[in-house]
Amino acid sequence: MEKNKMQRIGVLTSGGDAPGMNAAIRSVVRAAIFNDLEVVGIRRGYEGLLEGDIIPLSVSSVGGIIHRGGTFLRTARCEEFKRPEGINEGLTRLQEYDLHGLVVIGGDGSFRGAWELAKKGFPVVGIPGTIDNDIAGTDTTLGFDTAANTALDAVVKLRDTASSHERLFIVEVMGRHSGYLALHVAVAGGAECAVIPERPVNIEELCQKLHSTRHRGKTHSLVVVAEGAMGAQELAAQLQDKTGFEFRITVLGHIQRGGAPSVADAVLGSRMGSFAVQALLDGETGVMVGILKGELALSPLSVAWEQKNELPKELMDLVDVLSI
Ligand code: ADP
Ligand code: F6P
Repeated sequence: MEKNKMQRIGVLTSGGDAPGMNAAIRSVVRAAIFNDLEVVGIRRGYEGLLEGDIIPLSVSSVGGIIHRGGTFLRTARCEEFKRPEGINEGLTRLQEYDLHGLVVIGGDGSFRGAWELAKKGFPVVGIPGTIDNDIAGTDTTLGFDTAANTALDAVVKLRDTASSHERLFIVEVMGRHSGYLALHVAVAGGAECAVIPERPVNIEELCQKLHSTRHRGKTHSLVVVAEGAMGAQELAAQLQDKTGFEFRITVLGHIQRGGAPSVADAVLGSRMGSFAVQALLDGETGVMVGILKGELALSPLSVAWEQKNELPKELMDLVDVLSI
């Protein structure tokens, strides 16, 4: 699309919500208006696109949301959009609404939908919004930092009660198929181990470690397990059989998705939103915004499913080093 054709754009959030999405929406809207573009919000992701659930957005309609968790445009998962008919229907709607570009804020699933639109010639730019940090092309996804801090806050509290009762706590965190969240929470929370999909756990070695830390005087044991690795119940059963420790399980669940964005996420959302608008103005399409070594960068949307956001080996090793 030529520069001067970009006059009216849309923004939507799709898939699981993540803290910082509101900051990104606000930034898209204000950067668009700053650049003399009209901007509309498409509510409830691709579902809202197909149903025509769109609202005009102004500078003031995104006031008072930067510090709020969730997404004020709401979000949804839309099965119909995974079918070719759904994509065609979406394109028809985008034309009907007279839109010239779209910013999609979501995870890799949402990016696949965005890619389908881009392949058909509609200009789309993605912003990676997910607590899982499972998207290549960016060092950090929007929401990851806040979710990690929320989980850490819970772990710090659990350590108090774990110590008082000399218990083993198994804390299950989200992350879908990725161990990113679990690994960061384990390192920051001083856990004995992060059980993650990327590195199979050796139960014998873990039990030895749990015993040795008790022998050196530690009054509690803490294991963080990623939901994508194994169920906390299953892990607890194995550990209890072999250690004899009294245990408790805490599944943190959706609390990790809520709350005000951290400074890092509010700033990241603000930077990415504006950058996405600039990318559309520059004629970019089929790309995602990322932050790589502190710099904003564009990558093809397809890196989200063709590449893996690898966990640093150094961080995986560090849990073992620090929990001797
Ligand atoms: P996330 O974006 O957080 O990874 P999902 O994987 O649930 O979340 O995807 C969100 C939505 O993106 C889906 O409900 C669907 O509407 C759309 N989507 C996912 N995969 C595809 C696909 N292969 N083609 C088109 N749209 C897709
Ligand atoms: O992708 C974000 C995420 O919170 C994952 O960590 C988790 O597995 C999933 O979404 C939960 O999805 P739902 O909100 O549908 O329960």
